[in-house]
Amino acid sequence: MSEIRAVITGIGGYVPDYALTNKELETMVDTNDDWITSRTGIKERRILKGKDQGTSVMATKAVEELLRKTRTSPEQIDLIICATTTPDMIFPATANLVADNIGAKHSFGFDLQAACSGFLYGLVTGAQFIEAGTYRKVVVIGADKMSSIIDYQDRTTCIIFGDGAGAVLLEPTQEPYGLRDSHLRSDGSGAPHLHLKAGGSRRPATVETVTAREHFVYQEGAAVFKYAVKHMADVSADIMKRNQLHAEDIDWLVPHQANKRIIDATAERMGIGYDKVMYTIHKYGNTTSGTIPLCLWDYESKLKKGDNLIMAAFGGGFTWGATYVIWGYDGKAS
Ligand SMILES: CC(C)(COP(=O)(O)OP(=O)(O)OC[C@H]1O[C@@H](n2cnc3c(N)ncnc32)[C@H](O)[C@@H]1OP(=O)(O)O)[C@@H](O)C(=O)NCCC(=O)NCCS
Repeated sequence: MSEIRAVITGIGGYVPDYALTNKELETMVDTNDDWITSRTGIKERRILKGKDQGTSVMATKAVEELLRKTRTSPEQIDLIICATTTPDMIFPATANLVADNIGAKHSFGFDLQAACSGFLYGLVTGAQFIEAGTYRKVVVIGADKMSSIIDYQDRTTCIIFGDGAGAVLLEPTQEPYGLRDSHLRSDGSGAPHLHLKAGGSRRPATVETVTAREHFVYQEGAAVFKYAVKHMADVSADIMKRNQLHAEDIDWLVPHQANKRIIDATAERMGIGYDKVMYTIHKYGNTTSGTIPLCLWDYESKLKKGDNLIMAAFGGGFTWGATYVIWGYDGKAS
């Protein structure tokens, strides 16, 4: 009997209605549309507005759509993994809040934090439970409300990030589809270049930390850019090589959307044309854990059963990785 693999059987997504455009950012910080577009490829990003609206609001909407499209009842779900860097609260896990919102009464769940690589880490973790035969329906969410940790007085970061959520359903298959290979990496020595200074156990919130604006993303953009280009391209090329995949075998690169120049460099290293690359950065910016599932959500109607996908990410930690996935269904699940 052939081995059990985890296949993606559906995708749901959600982005808030409010679009923060480059033009509006020009009124907030010293920047301009030309600079942002040429350096990042971003034109606008979505922002979740409203009091007490956390990441779980977006994650819940994404999962509700996923369940509708896959005709899955919440009681059938075994496990919910929520990849996020902006949980509603430090505890309990956002995955549990989502489970309660949707009525997933027989599931367990947990959050997973790997910054912009979170969705890939979640996908690979969820797949292990399917491949081991432990569970049959695993929901993997990538969701972040980045606007909650962005300093809208800092022009080097506020132009990049946005809010959004995507979710996939993983189920077992013995057909030749699903997650075929993954290569995940991390390197904690990258922490000084990209982190949140306060709010954790090392530096809990105080009046001083708030006054010093330490609860916002700190990023050394140029250093992060250098590592991101190298690692995302290297790991993508590596996963192609070890699966004997050539450029012409790849149907889609599904890259984390941090900067269009990083995405283009990865495609060039893989030797594939830009027409095989999923881009959502112009309209959603960097939604951290949300970027890869939101790409799948946006391009779902173009995907065909048997398509070879390379998903690749790089983020804070540093964390990075790539997965090789054979897509399991045609077009849009209704
Ligand atoms: C952040 C990023 C877009 C900045 O682009 P860059 O080309 O590296 O720009 P630099 O940081 O070198 O800054 C160049 C100049 O532009 C200025 N600048 C920065 N942000 C600006 C903005 N929004 N508008 C106008 N000018 C800006 C800088 O102050 C600097 O000016 P100076 O030369 O007078 O000092 C880019 O570094 C990047 O994308 N980094 C990686 C992000 C990433 O992948 N993060 C990982 C999380 S997933």
